[in-house]
Formats: sequence, structure tokens, C-alpha cells
Amino acid sequence: MNEANPGVVKAVIPAAGLGTRFLPATKATPKEMLPVVDKPAIQYVVEEAVAAGLDDVLLVTGRNKRALEDHFDRNYELEHALSRKGDDQRLSMVRESADLATVHYVRQGDPRGLGHAVLSAAAHVGDEPFAVLLGDDLIDPRDPLLARMVEVQKALGGSVVALMEVPAAQIHLYGCAAVETTADDDVVLITGLVEKPAPGEAPSSYAVIGRYVLDPAVFDVLRRTAPGRGGEIQLTDALEELALDPSLGGPVHGVVFRGRRYDTGDRGDYLRAIVRLACEREDLGPDFRAWLRDWVRDEL
Ligand code: UTP
Repeated sequence: MNEANPGVVKAVIPAAGLGTRFLPATKATPKEMLPVVDKPAIQYVVEEAVAAGLDDVLLVTGRNKRALEDHFDRNYELEHALSRKGDDQRLSMVRESADLATVHYVRQGDPRGLGHAVLSAAAHVGDEPFAVLLGDDLIDPRDPLLARMVEVQKALGGSVVALMEVPAAQIHLYGCAAVETTADDDVVLITGLVEKPAPGEAPSSYAVIGRYVLDPAVFDVLRRTAPGRGGEIQLTDALEELALDPSLGGPVHGVVFRGRRYDTGDRGDYLRAIVRLACEREDLGPDFRAWLRDWVRDEL
């Protein structure tokens, strides 16, 4: 344990992207507000941050920030109506999202990429290591990842990135890491990073997924990071600079995640997330599973 390391207390959740893969649903609604069963995706992500001990949450929002702000605020009219009806169960559900964490907001302005979204958190974060959780990336709460990343950061310093092994045919959809093994089975040292490599140019099958614990040195690097792939300021490019020169902000390690994860910004994965989580719910699952079984048997 590194006693000089104050540990991670703040979480930054970028939610200012345009969500073009999900149009027209995302024309007036952030994709992070799309429901996964009966909760918006972003609430699962805030719950995950809180479960890992990070209850200071900064949401990076864009043009449709209103729905996000309202979701994490009180709704007195609704609470009053539910309390008049004596519907205590729904009342506590409505209050829950407002009481989850201390939620702050910063506006990204132009969505110039994930790196740019993270840079807009600099003033709030200050000079401490912090977590970044992508607002459209769901990690199943039964497969905790962030707490392990925080632990690894505390022990090894520097920055920690979540990695997942993906089939070779899919690696061009992700940032990809060149790695060296360490004494820990689930921890690797990252020696290079490339954003969405062309087929055949990927240094490994390790894809970067939407969880990071970052040294604040990343802000200085982002300030001088030029737009990269797609004309966007890429977080991957800044992380590659950190990985190549550990004198900037310590080493960059990867924690290899082997659990369940859903990219709710992708329509196929979004549908899979809903079906899977609905099947597993105690209240909805039994009926839904029975219907699904019949439907698959009779119609597919
Ligand atoms: P994505 O690349 O998945 O978001 O970014 P996007 O650009 O909205 O998606 P498509 O490709 O157009 O459908 C991952 C996360 O980073 C946030 C997004 O909101 C998402 O949570 N993001 C991305 C920002 O906050 N700002 C940006 O400029 C870009």
C-alpha cells in the first residue's frame, strides 16, 4: 500500500456525446438516459461509482443536459402525487436517484471527443487520481471492476485502464493495448495503445473498455493532444503518451475484466442488456423468461 497516495474519491462520467448510433432516439434525449429495463443507463453507472466508494460524481453533459440533471434531482410534484396515493415503493424509487451521490455538472460545449470531455473535468478534479466511467458502458454489478482498479491504482500508482479480451474481428472497434504480464494474473503493464486499429495491426486482443482510474498528469497531456482519429481529441492518445513516458504520471496498468459488460450506445448490445437483465430480475424475470422461451421456440 502506498501511504503517500490519497486514493480515489471522485468519479467523472462523460455523457456529452452525440449518440449518433442511436438516432433518432437520441435527437432530444442523451443516450445515457435510455432505459435499461426501468432505469436509465446512467443510473447503473452512478450506482457502480458509489458502490466502489466514489460518491463525488461529476457528470460531463452536453446540449441535452436537462434530463440528466432532473433525473438526479428531487421531483416534488411526483413525490407528492405518489405519497398522496400511498405508493411508498415507487416513492422511494423516485427519491433514490436524487439521494445516491453528490452529483456535480460541467458542460463540455462542443463534443470534441472523449479526451476533451475528460479535460473539462480538470478544475473539479484538481490534483488527485480520479475515476472515469463512460455513461453508456454498463458493468454488471455482480462482477465488480472499479473497486479492483482503485485498489491496483493505490498499490502501483500511475493510471489504470480496464481491458477486456475480444475476438480479433472486433478489435478495430476499440482502443487496443500492447501489454506485458505482471505477477498478478489480472494486471498487465501497458506499453502502448492504439485507437481502433486496422485489422492485422492490433498489438493484442486486449480492448480498452469504459473504466479508467487516471493520474491527474493526464490533464496536461490532454491540453496538448491534437485531434486524432475521427477529428476527435482521443483519451487513448493521451494514455499512450503516459504509457510511453512514465516520468509524466507514473506507469499505466491494465486490469483484465472477465465479467459481464454491455455497451448501451450500441443497439445490439443495448437489446442484449435489456433481455438479460430483465430475465434475471426477481419481479419481471419469471413471466418474461417464460414468454421468451415460448417465443423463441414458436417464432424463431
Ligand atoms: P462514444 O464514442 O460512444 O459516444 O463515447 P458518441 O460519440 O456519443 O457515440 P456515437 O458513436 O455518436 O453513437 C463514449 C462516451 O463518451 C461520451 C459519450 O457520451 C459516451 O458516454 N462523450 C463522447 C462525451 O462526453 N463527449 C464527447 O465529445 C464524446
